[in-house]
Amino acid sequence: MANLVTSLCCVVLAAVVVAYAQRRSQLVARNQYERMGSDVTMQCGSLDNDASVSWKVNGTDVKAQHRLEGPRLILTQVNLGHNGLYSCFQNPHGERRDTILLHIGIPPREPTVTCRSNTYPKGFYCSWHQLHATYVPTTFEVDVQHNQRSLEVQKDSVHKNRCHVRFPEVFSSFPYKVNVTAVNALGKASTTISFEESTIVKPDPPERVTATPIRLNPRRLEVSWQSPSTWPDIDNFPLKYFLRYRPLIRDQWQHVELSDSTSHTITDAYAGKEYIIQVAAKDTEIGTWSDWSVAVHATPWIEDPLPITSTTEGDFSTASDLSEPIDDDQEKGLEGASRDNTATETKTSPIPSSNAPQKAEPPVGRAAKLLTFFSPLLLGMLLLFM
Ligand SMILES: *[C@@H]1O[C@H](CO)[C@@H](O)[C@H](O)[C@H]1NC(C)=O
Ligand SMILES: *[C@@H]1O[C@H](CO)[C@@H](O)[C@H](O)[C@H]1NC(C)=O
Repeated sequence: MANLVTSLCCVVLAAVVVAYAQRRSQLVARNQYERMGSDVTMQCGSLDNDASVSWKVNGTDVKAQHRLEGPRLILTQVNLGHNGLYSCFQNPHGERRDTILLHIGIPPREPTVTCRSNTYPKGFYCSWHQLHATYVPTTFEVDVQHNQRSLEVQKDSVHKNRCHVRFPEVFSSFPYKVNVTAVNALGKASTTISFEESTIVKPDPPERVTATPIRLNPRRLEVSWQSPSTWPDIDNFPLKYFLRYRPLIRDQWQHVELSDSTSHTITDAYAGKEYIIQVAAKDTEIGTWSDWSVAVHATPWIEDPLPITSTTEGDFSTASDLSEPIDDDQEKGLEGASRDNTATETKTSPIPSSNAPQKAEPPVGRAAKLLTFFSPLLLGMLLLFM
């Protein structure tokens, strides 16, 4: 008896589950992926050929060009505008029989793949991207071969289209073969690149580049930097450096190559000119130069300018002299660098100079800026007292 009740219970439960699953399958949309430009057939559930149904998209009538063939809706030459939630209802009672989320897209094309080692001799990374949108979710499979062996590939935690590989050995003469396959619901495409270890070595740019004026030296700037922190073994795999610098107002760079030193003194700077300075790094033997470091700005030491012979201005005018004439000079070029009346005039203007970028200057410069900012105020007060 107990057995019978249990069996009955099971049967009822099973029936409920099946009914629920059926109902759910009618309510929960299923995905259908189709190629752009193709003719698309959507089938309403598993209804027979002679079933009569009506279709809606996004809850309204289908306005796009279409044909009805029994339980099938046929759209011609679909484009992104056909995307939507399609539902079919069986006539004559109008019960919903199916719901389809239509996604129009294109198959992936061969991805662009590049590999680089900024952590030599630890490993390298590869990144890839698609030149064309596919409009539907596309994933990538990566396979790395070396000396007929598949290497372990680790996904990057930040960059979606990047992976990391450890060098199985250093100074290997076997090439690495990297195969990246783009896959989506409409197709797949692969790109394979092959390279030798030494060709992909490219360090990150040097870090903490600083440039400081040297007291009493109007033509010198002391530049120093650190090797990129990502470079794992600077002692056994030393880097060499490339320095470039120019006055802001000039286009041509001057270059210095330095092996194994992380500082350099520029001795031929134009007095009083703001400089822009960058450094790149390269393994001393293999690979290519890094990108340039973030640009730093610096101005060589300038002698305190002679006080301007004016009776109304106090200390603050001297301070603003320090920061402002540079901008005037920029407009005049190197030759017309001498200070003249225009400099005096700008001081009375309350508008802060707009072409003064953040200069990597010692606090003196900042104090001067502060004073420059307040000088119109002070000037105004002075005028009041006169
Ligand atoms: C249906 O709605 C989606 C999302 O709002 C929209 O992108 C799509 O164009 C609509 N489809 C049609 C055929 O109106
Ligand atoms: C790259 O990988 C894909 C997918 O695994 C494979 O079909 C294809 O043949 C591979 N290509 C090469 C050149 O190994």
